[in-house]
Amino acid sequence: MDNTKYKSTVTEAFNKAAATYDQMGVEFFTPMGRRLVERVSPCPGERVLDVGCGRGAVLFEAADRVGPSGHALGIDIAPAMVEAARGRAASLGAGHVEVRVMDGEHPDFPPASFDVVTGSYSVIFLPDAPKALHGYARLLRPAGRIAFTSPVFTDDTFPFLPPVFTELIPERLLRNLPREWQPEALKRRFNSWLGDRDELTRTMVRAGFADVEIADEHVELLAADGTAWVDWSHTQGMRLLWQHLPKYESAQLRTRLIAELDRLRGDGPLRLPTPVRFVLASVAA
Ligand SMILES: C[S@@+](CC[C@H](N)C(=O)[O-])C[C@H]1O[C@@H](n2cnc3c(N)ncnc32)[C@H](O)[C@@H]1O
Repeated sequence: MDNTKYKSTVTEAFNKAAATYDQMGVEFFTPMGRRLVERVSPCPGERVLDVGCGRGAVLFEAADRVGPSGHALGIDIAPAMVEAARGRAASLGAGHVEVRVMDGEHPDFPPASFDVVTGSYSVIFLPDAPKALHGYARLLRPAGRIAFTSPVFTDDTFPFLPPVFTELIPERLLRNLPREWQPEALKRRFNSWLGDRDELTRTMVRAGFADVEIADEHVELLAADGTAWVDWSHTQGMRLLWQHLPKYESAQLRTRLIAELDRLRGDGPLRLPTPVRFVLASVAA
């Protein structure tokens, strides 16, 4: 699939997901965004660019930190996500939050426009992420910081999913996906080089960053039960997998996932510690 077609598939998927994205009572993107902002720690008055902002899991945390004397600008390729984030900014009366439809690979701003660039689970979607990172270094003022998250890619993990799911999705089912949606192709597509610390560091340095810090941490995914998790999975990137499963297979997988997740949760809610990679770096002072 060429990059233009891929981007329109991603845009369509997130446009469809926007109404329910991060609204299903499942906590994951918001705590991950909060942690990312904690790590990069924007200061009052700073200007933050959040790439692939979605409904604003990072954007609004960053906006709280920079305060009204600062500026938090979110860009996203999916107009429905932008609308949702804009609506939230309006309802909060957050005049220092701005949201625009823009391709994160081609951010259209003058050099040194920002103090901080963030991106949570969004850099993985950029077809040429190394080039985009190079562009972000240019957008930062001297000593400006970048901070983004990605899944922790492992050989046996399907992108988007914590390792516990590896056994639950039958290999046969994945092999029947269209070629470009099969695990290996998807891993390449989702920039699995981010999983190799050396390559990631080299790429960041080539892009113009120094002081590269890579930290893997578990973010707890919290859902009421297995059904809540499966419903939620349709509202985020995993939608790209569900939409390629034949109806019958999809129904079978749903039943199986719910049963297994409910077994895991016992009497309480479902708590899945999910490994997340946090990447921080800065440009020269
Ligand atoms: C998994 S969501 C993460 C959203 C948000 N950062 C969060 O943590 O909730 C990925 C987001 O990246 C956006 N995205 C994907 N490709 C993009 C691109 N080329 N440019 C800008 N945004 C993009 C999607 O539309 C989606 O909103």
